[in-house]
Amino acid sequence: MSNNRDIIESIPAHIRAMKGYVPGKTIEEVVQAYHPPRISKLASNENRWGHSSQVHDAVQQAMNVANNYPSALANGLRDDLAAHLKCEANQLVIGSGSESLLGLLCRTFFEEGDEIITASATFVGLNIQAHIQNIPVKQIPLTSGYAFDVGAIAASVTEQTKMVYIANPNNPTGTMISQQELDVLMASLPSRVLLVLDEAYVEFAEHLPNYPSTNEMIRRVEESLHPNTLILRTFSKAYGLASFRVGYAIGHPELISALWKTKNTFEPSGISEAAARAALADQEFLAYTVVKSNQARSRFESFLTEKNIPYVPSAANFVMILARDQIDALRITEELLHQGVIVRQLSPFGIPNGVRITVGIEEEMEHLESALAACWNSQN
Ligand SMILES: Cc1ncc(COP(=O)(O)O)c(C=O)c1O
Repeated sequence: MSNNRDIIESIPAHIRAMKGYVPGKTIEEVVQAYHPPRISKLASNENRWGHSSQVHDAVQQAMNVANNYPSALANGLRDDLAAHLKCEANQLVIGSGSESLLGLLCRTFFEEGDEIITASATFVGLNIQAHIQNIPVKQIPLTSGYAFDVGAIAASVTEQTKMVYIANPNNPTGTMISQQELDVLMASLPSRVLLVLDEAYVEFAEHLPNYPSTNEMIRRVEESLHPNTLILRTFSKAYGLASFRVGYAIGHPELISALWKTKNTFEPSGISEAAARAALADQEFLAYTVVKSNQARSRFESFLTEKNIPYVPSAANFVMILARDQIDALRITEELLHQGVIVRQLSPFGIPNGVRITVGIEEEMEHLESALAACWNSQN
């Protein structure tokens, strides 16, 4: 065997120190390890209602030209999105999932000494992308209600701050910040600070009275009131296309054109672009899935209340329940796995006693509720 020590040791220390993302368990892994009679995969905030049936035809068609490179600007999807969002195409950049766009932000805007400010418990993909670029992340504790503490974040901005990252609704807590909170934050941020609003779950929350208005955000960016704001969106959640890897950013054309320069040229694939265009065109399926998902969530929250299981009210397609401590959260997660219910214990997200559960179709919720009632009662 050849000796590769020199190469390994030359990997920068911050990369060698990384643990890497630990994904939720796959169905195959759970079947192999636990042999449960059935599986409900409720760990990754995917759309349990699937995706629009129109995606199939679009993907078939795109397969016919899969030997060609796709449009580097994802022009078709960009134009469709611009029409859908009522903005200009040059305000949009499309990438392979919003996680890829977070990576893009980290490698486009940062110089030595710059830092990110976010919450102590939010989407781990941000921390990973920042770590890859060796960018320090200042994590501000959540409020007692498990929400982003917008005031504390604004107060902790320093000369080093290049970006403030807010996930709204937040993963894994499901909490959201309101238009008023956002207004205060935007007014307080110096213009050299990029405000990134990650709206991966926007479709589940946008009908709520206080949820920040997309039109208003776009207007502020267009009128250069807050040109330092970028909104991230994804087709992975409500549109049900997690495996296709399509996300996009909305922002000022000058910020967006910087991102086009540093983006991997042919992301997303032509097949993924076609899938996203078909999904976007089928707003009926989107509306159906959002109604179903929100209904499932409120029923599940009533179940939790009835069983005295502490949880944080959610504006997304998942709910975080709170066990006594980390040991209890790990036990509950393990016992649910034994029964074929895959959920996410939240130590990697910074809430060791938390367990995040995606809401699903009726049979999955029945499966979940009976399994959870059994294991919760056994110890609490
Ligand atoms: C807040 C948030 N942002 C981004 C992502 C990543 O989404 P994508 O599949 O588009 O990379 C997730 C996925 O869980 C998320 O929860």
